[in-house]
Amino acid sequence: MGFLSTVVPFAVAALFFFLLSLRSSAQPLSRSQSKTLLRLPRLLEYPPVLAGWSNSTAFCYILPTPSLSVSCDAGRVTGLSVVGGASGPISPAFSSDSLFTTLSRLPDLTYLSLVSLGLYGPLPAKVDRLASLQVLNLSSNYFSGAIPPELSRVFTLQNLILSWNLFNGTVPDLRPLSAILELDLSGNNLGQKFPSLSSSLVTLSLRNNSFADKIPANLASFDQLRRLDLSFNELHGLVPAFLFLLPSMQYLDLSENRLTGEVPANSSCSIDLSYVDISNNLIVGRLPSCIQSNSSNRVVLSSGNCLSAVDLGFQHPNTYCNQGALAAVLPSANKISGSKSNLGLIFGIVGGAICGAVLVGLLGFLIFRKMRSAKDEEDTRNIFEKTNVGKSFVHVAPRSPPDARHMSPTVMIGTLGLEPYQIFSIEDLEEATNSFDPSNLIEDGALGQAYKGWIRDGSSVIIRCLRLNHKLSRQSLLQYMDIVSKLRHRHLVSIIGYCVANDSENTNTIDAIFLVFEHVSNGSLRFYLGESRKTEITMTLTQRVSATIGVARGIQFLHTVTVPGIVGNDLNIENILLDQTFTAKISNYNLPTLANFRSNKLGSRSPLTIFAHKEDLGSIDSVVNGEKEDIYQFGLILLEIVTGRPPGSNAQLDSLRAKLEKSLVDKPASLKGFTDMEIRGSSSVDSLSRVVEVSLNCLSKDPKQRPCIDDVIWNLQYSVQVQDDWASNESFNVQI
Ligand SMILES: *[C@@H]1O[C@H](CO)[C@@H](O)[C@H](O)[C@H]1NC(C)=O
Ligand SMILES: *[C@@H]1O[C@H](CO)[C@@H](O)[C@H](O)[C@H]1NC(C)=O
Ligand SMILES: *[C@@H]1O[C@H](CO)[C@@H](O)[C@H](O)[C@H]1NC(C)=O
Ligand SMILES: *[C@@H]1O[C@H](CO)[C@@H](O)[C@H](O)[C@H]1NC(C)=O
Ligand SMILES: *[C@@H]1O[C@H](CO)[C@@H](O)[C@H](O)[C@H]1NC(C)=O
Ligand SMILES: *[C@@H]1O[C@H](CO)[C@@H](O)[C@H](O)[C@H]1NC(C)=O
Repeated sequence: MGFLSTVVPFAVAALFFFLLSLRSSAQPLSRSQSKTLLRLPRLLEYPPVLAGWSNSTAFCYILPTPSLSVSCDAGRVTGLSVVGGASGPISPAFSSDSLFTTLSRLPDLTYLSLVSLGLYGPLPAKVDRLASLQVLNLSSNYFSGAIPPELSRVFTLQNLILSWNLFNGTVPDLRPLSAILELDLSGNNLGQKFPSLSSSLVTLSLRNNSFADKIPANLASFDQLRRLDLSFNELHGLVPAFLFLLPSMQYLDLSENRLTGEVPANSSCSIDLSYVDISNNLIVGRLPSCIQSNSSNRVVLSSGNCLSAVDLGFQHPNTYCNQGALAAVLPSANKISGSKSNLGLIFGIVGGAICGAVLVGLLGFLIFRKMRSAKDEEDTRNIFEKTNVGKSFVHVAPRSPPDARHMSPTVMIGTLGLEPYQIFSIEDLEEATNSFDPSNLIEDGALGQAYKGWIRDGSSVIIRCLRLNHKLSRQSLLQYMDIVSKLRHRHLVSIIGYCVANDSENTNTIDAIFLVFEHVSNGSLRFYLGESRKTEITMTLTQRVSATIGVARGIQFLHTVTVPGIVGNDLNIENILLDQTFTAKISNYNLPTLANFRSNKLGSRSPLTIFAHKEDLGSIDSVVNGEKEDIYQFGLILLEIVTGRPPGSNAQLDSLRAKLEKSLVDKPASLKGFTDMEIRGSSSVDSLSRVVEVSLNCLSKDPKQRPCIDDVIWNLQYSVQVQDDWASNESFNVQI
């Protein structure tokens, strides 16, 4: 029964995917859609990138390049991306109205990107005819005037990028865009009111505009928000300390505004917050401890304020900020000279501002408390329902049906904030590796060679060359890249681009593929654990658990990014790498191989062979087993971050497991005896027992008893909260 309920959705999902892939593979573009595309070169005034288009172009089979890609489904255009290199507006003959009239004849467009093409004029209201649009990117053009309110009727929008144009006026109410994940309005002249937005946002940039308003308190409910850039505006009012504590916040830039007052000393920060820039505002007083200075997992920039502490870079004298604050509240303040009564007014207003700051901070804190106590309640329920070592919790997460054409929101969210995906030329890669110099070869294995290299922006990369034993058609390549390009996530060593080497005689087949991965520089998680660690630095319990939460999120992503998921990832603490901000990334996961992409066998493949991984997946059984295998290996990693040493032989592991189970039940305090010396004193017993309990559940001998990854993440997050609460009480007691 339990088995059936796991298998049936899988089978249905696999069939669904199979049908979709058949449907999209063969059909050519309809005549009318081809004709519409053929109008574009003229409407866009013949950008060089469209130079080759004619009525014999097979639009759906154009190899995607950084400057041009077209995607189709069932004979209709679903995606169009044209990136030019215009350095000014195109000729006066251009009409944005005609352009959008033509585009509205492609009503299935879900992805539209027209970047750097010198387009100008107003964005016409008829943009709302593109009613399936998920991504609209009009960055780096010369569109001007107001953003049409009709845009907020395109309810499907997930990414709206209007950056670096000449839009002005107020932003229409965008709350109806309830699926939106990314909004980028940077580099325009929009203002002055702060826009009304949907709380589904994950990334928001209003950088370099003319917003001159307070930062609204309703941002406190944006619990998906990871990246917020409000820099280079004229925002005033108190520093919104609640933003530091938003549960998903990672990147916060409030620099170059007119924010005033003091940041409440007891403000705290979300664990994931890794970048805060509050420089060049009018902030006074001392900063709360979580943003006082750079730390191993957080960069803080705070120069150019009136802060009192050493080491915060250049700071103005207090009078500068107080006068600035006054000017922001009272535009005519510069007329007031320093007479006695007016000074009283200045201090009155500034004093009021500071009390307000405390109030706002307190409100943020109360909201946080409330969220936390709701979680506590849920947790008490969960403890009874599904924990305790003997009867470990099992349930397999339900899966939503797959959508082969678009990324799921989880997938989209995971990729946001990563570098944009690039398509490299072979010359780029030669430059990066010094013409594949043998001194840069780091691996020469069954799957091909790997080189290290440096790409133009200075980042270091690993380049894998995939050997092709047979010729590959463009279409198979597109299918393969479609899958591989989804393997981008904050907690994976992600692919950042690829390069295709064409057969010089036959441009329809491909000789070799190079996949370019990010290079993660700070060594493996094991480097930082135990007495025999390789560095001076050691990680606290919170840092260790946060790193494993990252790993778990990476696993969750791999298990859901394709259907069936990518499993059997051979997880090993040595393969968990840390970057400069100590973000954990899984390397060496089960990358799909090209073995099953034969140019001559298209149409007859079964959906499972598309995903043939290192260990060939025979059946749905082996997918489920592969998931549970990953959970087991995750349990070993979790155990090692607590004990600080490798698990040893199977017999040693069994004996350790028995001892831990006994401690957990009889006397949790005795768990400290098993804990890495480095964190023994600084860890709470409750937090440790939660981690050990999760680890033991993952290590259950019976795969069915192992928890699902969602439960794992939830329990580990809980453990971090318990540890943080304990640590803040502890430091409070020490102070007394
Ligand atoms: C395609 O273009 C060629 C040359 O420009 C022209 O002779 C031919 O009639 C066109 N075919 C169609 C179907 O428009
Ligand atoms: C939009 O275009 C810009 C400029 O090419 C690019 O950096 C950005 O990644 C694009 N965003 C999306 C969501 O396509
Ligand atoms: C926006 O800019 C146009 C000129 O491009 C100007 O005529 C209009 O008044 C501006 N609107 C606002 C609200 O500033
Ligand atoms: C802001 O935008 C203006 C033009 O729109 C540009 O000249 C300036 O460099 C931008 N500033 C920043 C900090 O991006
Ligand atoms: C935070 O600080 C304010 C003012 O200093 C104080 O009233 C409040 O109780 C503090 N909150 C906590 C939880 O310490
Ligand atoms: C914090 O780190 C940033 C970036 O690494 C650096 O620019 C800044 O000067 C550092 N701040 C301090 C106070 O060391």
